[in-house]
Amino acid sequence: MRSNLVAGNWKMCGDTASIEKLVAELKTSLPAEPGLDIAVFPPSVYLAQVLAGLSGSPVAVGNQNVCDQPGDGAFTGEVSASMLADIGCRYVIVGHSERRAIYAETSEQVAQKAKQVLEQGLVPLVCVGETETQRDDGATLEVISAQLKPIFSTLSVQQLQLIVVAYEPVWAIGTGKTASPSQAQEVHAFIRALFAKKDEHLAKGLRILYGGSVKAANAGELFAQADIDGGLVGGASLDAQEFSAICRAA
Ligand code: G3H
Repeated sequence: MRSNLVAGNWKMCGDTASIEKLVAELKTSLPAEPGLDIAVFPPSVYLAQVLAGLSGSPVAVGNQNVCDQPGDGAFTGEVSASMLADIGCRYVIVGHSERRAIYAETSEQVAQKAKQVLEQGLVPLVCVGETETQRDDGATLEVISAQLKPIFSTLSVQQLQLIVVAYEPVWAIGTGKTASPSQAQEVHAFIRALFAKKDEHLAKGLRILYGGSVKAANAGELFAQADIDGGLVGGASLDAQEFSAICRAA
């Protein structure tokens, strides 16, 4: 049976004081339930602060990005998966649509990043999702399939068993426009079927998160879908009460 995961992506938001307050509020409000994993992804300069603040709590911490090369090395400005493992991170988001769109990350680079993360014993959250134009053109499933192709060719079946996939339709991110539960379920089932082509057992255990304007008011209906195993939450994860309510819905 798959355990649900709710992940809070804080993106490039916060400062020392606001993060201290958020961590303190999360510690008292987040549910601790068997079968529910919770992780937060602060901006990397605040990782140490959040790791210290949440130490002893069941909430895991991850980074929002990673270098596609092993460390150490001459990659100015980059952070390696080994460094993230060293400080106690458990997860890394790779291939978020903001990184694909703004920083021109390719699906091949995303797969290399996932490989680096796995080689350090961490879990990559591999993000995929179509733009509004691609959805309007009826190309959603084709786009998702192309984004995942390098993941299948780069990772072994053993490694694929350890990853988490996040389906985030780009048109739903930060827009307040959420995919309907049936729209999301259709894509999640398609993703699971792609993994089943590789290995049935792997597909059954794969956690697939939905992301895109998730909030307490819509989380329950989304998470009730057969192939939705939790959420990757952006804006709403910056509010401890709202994020806790989303976690309780999982
Ligand atoms: O990583 C999170 C997603 O980009 C969703 O962001 O919940 O603000 O729409 P959002």
